Amino acid sequence: MRVLGIETSCDETGVAVYDTAAGLLAHRLHSQVDLHARYGGVVPELASRDHVRRLIPLIEEVAAEAGTRLADLDGIAYTEGPGLAGALLVGASVANALGFALGKPVVGIHHLEGHLLSPLLAEPRPDFPFVALLVSGGHSQLYEVAGVGRYTLIGDTLDDAAGEAFDKTATLLGLPYPGGPALAKLAESGRAGVVTLPRPMIDSGDLMMSFSGLKTAVLTLVRKREAGGALDARTKADIAAEFEQAVVDVLCAKAIRALDRSGASRLVVAGGVGANRSLRERLKREVARRGAEVYFPDLVFCTDNGAMIALAGAMRLAQARSDGAFTVRPRWALESLPAA
Ligand code: KG4
Ligand code: ZN
Repeated sequence: MRVLGIETSCDETGVAVYDTAAGLLAHRLHSQVDLHARYGGVVPELASRDHVRRLIPLIEEVAAEAGTRLADLDGIAYTEGPGLAGALLVGASVANALGFALGKPVVGIHHLEGHLLSPLLAEPRPDFPFVALLVSGGHSQLYEVAGVGRYTLIGDTLDDAAGEAFDKTATLLGLPYPGGPALAKLAESGRAGVVTLPRPMIDSGDLMMSFSGLKTAVLTLVRKREAGGALDARTKADIAAEFEQAVVDVLCAKAIRALDRSGASRLVVAGGVGANRSLRERLKREVARRGAEVYFPDLVFCTDNGAMIALAGAMRLAQARSDGAFTVRPRWALESLPAA
């Protein structure tokens, strides 16, 4: 079965073709970073317009690279939500128009399900059940995953997501958008522990998280230091390293606690923050020490992409609509999905 996947929920246009027998045949990504950089964040209307410009040429390129005629596809999958309504509508409209023109089934995919299943694009593939740590710009959650569509939320953030904390802290340190990767890069040259930041809720005894206090702690620290003159590059790098270490400490402690609580022997990490090198190394060590296994998507599939949508689409094609109607869901709870 061969499925075209289309991702347009935010600021990346992602397209891929996934084949259930041969694996991922082709994928392309167009990032809108340059478009939004001067505004310091994603401008929804600009995002939608850019998806309109990019999507059809990307689909043509991906089909050519996959050696697939659109007429030979078995189905089309698009991100139905959550995300920016206007941006989602571009992918939904193109997917459904293509499906209508070609007489192919079209299925709407939950963006977070795409992230959760993205480690299945890599080898070795994790078997179900597993615990998933989903850490993106909008979410910091822990799930027990019994199978496709069988998700139980067991941990969540009370306020900001981990990626959001990275982005906001990067802005405080004067780093360019997108902040997360820039902050992680700066942290490499800094020394954790030179300044001290809190590890919010690390000892709360449950699986809840909170990251907004950490950002406020950085703000307070920066203000205090700036009273004595502008921050030098070394201090900024030290703050970045301590901030990254604090987030990694909390995520790692919660993920290990989730494994203990659920009795699972596999941890899957997904979402943009899953690209963080320090988090990956630390989890590999800690999970191995516990006698369990940890699975990550390849770096390119941690952040938004079309491949994870094509993969999830292949698993859910049986649930495709055939009445030509379609929806987008800017807000959508992952737990409300049916089992596949
Ligand atoms: O999954 P994703 O592409 O989009 C959402 O669905 O939100 O995640 C984007 C988030 C951003 O907050 C970004 O700053 C963060 O992932 N991110 C990182 C790194 N790469 C991306 N955070 C920390 N370290 C990284 N290397
Ligand atoms: Zn995402």
